[in-house]
Amino acid sequence: MSTITAAITAVGGYVPDFVLTNKLLETMVDTNDEWITSRTGIKERRILKDDNLGTSYLCIKAAEDLIAKGNVNPLEIDMVIVASTTPDMPVAATAVYVATQIGATNAFAYDLQAACSGFLYAMSTADAYIKSGKYKKVLIIGADKMSSIIDYTDRATCIIFGDGGGAALLEPNYEGLGIQDEFLRSDGVGRDFLKIDAGGSLLPASADTVAKRQHYVFQDGKTVYKYAVTGMADVSEKILQRNNLTKDDVDWLVAHQANKRIIDATASRIGLEEDKVLVNIHKYGNTTSGTLPLLLFDFEKKFKKGDNLIFAAFGGGFTWGAIYLKWAY
Ligand code: UT7
Repeated sequence: MSTITAAITAVGGYVPDFVLTNKLLETMVDTNDEWITSRTGIKERRILKDDNLGTSYLCIKAAEDLIAKGNVNPLEIDMVIVASTTPDMPVAATAVYVATQIGATNAFAYDLQAACSGFLYAMSTADAYIKSGKYKKVLIIGADKMSSIIDYTDRATCIIFGDGGGAALLEPNYEGLGIQDEFLRSDGVGRDFLKIDAGGSLLPASADTVAKRQHYVFQDGKTVYKYAVTGMADVSEKILQRNNLTKDDVDWLVAHQANKRIIDATASRIGLEEDKVLVNIHKYGNTTSGTLPLLLFDFEKKFKKGDNLIFAAFGGGFTWGAIYLKWAY
């Protein structure tokens, strides 16, 4: 009997039409295109403008794109995981609504929250379910409507984030392709440095918390930056070492798009040439759970069967990690 591995067999993505450029941000807060570009690599991001639409809309669009392109029958999907930091509502999982809307009516669904590492953790979950032989088609979606939790008077955070999401279908593979290894970490020290103070059980939302703007993201950027640079580079190096991979064995680095300088530092630690590093941060900014699947969505055509992809992410919590995957088509 051959071993089962979990392979990505289809991808999809979606970003809203509205483009929030650095120039436009200059009219909103005290910032400038030169500062944003040199510190982050971001030129523009997409914003879901319609107040009546939440993250589920991004998820549904991304999943529908995957279903159409991959010729997938939604009735055959066994489970749907939505990785998101901005679910439609605190109660009533976004994934459940999304599964029903896309016609995955034989699936069970739930949300997963791990900030910018959400999609990576969802890959790990899908991998475990598939490898065990329990389920065959697992749809994972990473999406965030970050504009719903960003304070557009705070120049330290509003220049970074954008809205968007992507999806991947994982299925059993019997040729040894798909997920090969993972190295996932977390550390609660992070919760002081990247957080939303109010709206949870510790500090429920009230007129007072809204007046104090505690329902928005707070980030101590400098501290998060230091942890992110070290964390993402460490796990990437570790996953190469323990799989006996050299830089020449790696075809693509699929790294969380939070800051171009963090991506460069990770690539540099493992000695990777620039043309193997996937980058779309200039177009979308940091879409949190959306960055990794949006890279797959944008660069799918470049991948060849058997290519070695290294996924790496770092996010709030802190959560971080790396996954080594062989592309299956
Ligand atoms: O995705 C999840 C994890 N998140 C991350 O990985 C993000 C990690 N952090 C970062 O990417 C960076 O820390 C930022 C991009 C958020 C900020 O860049 P930085 O180089 O760390 O800037 P800084 O916060 O140290 O600020 C440097 C200066 C400050 O001025 P002074 O004190 O030196 O006079 C800031 O007030 O830049 C100022 N500044 C700005 N200036 C123009 C901060 N934000 C802006 C801005 N425009 N938008």
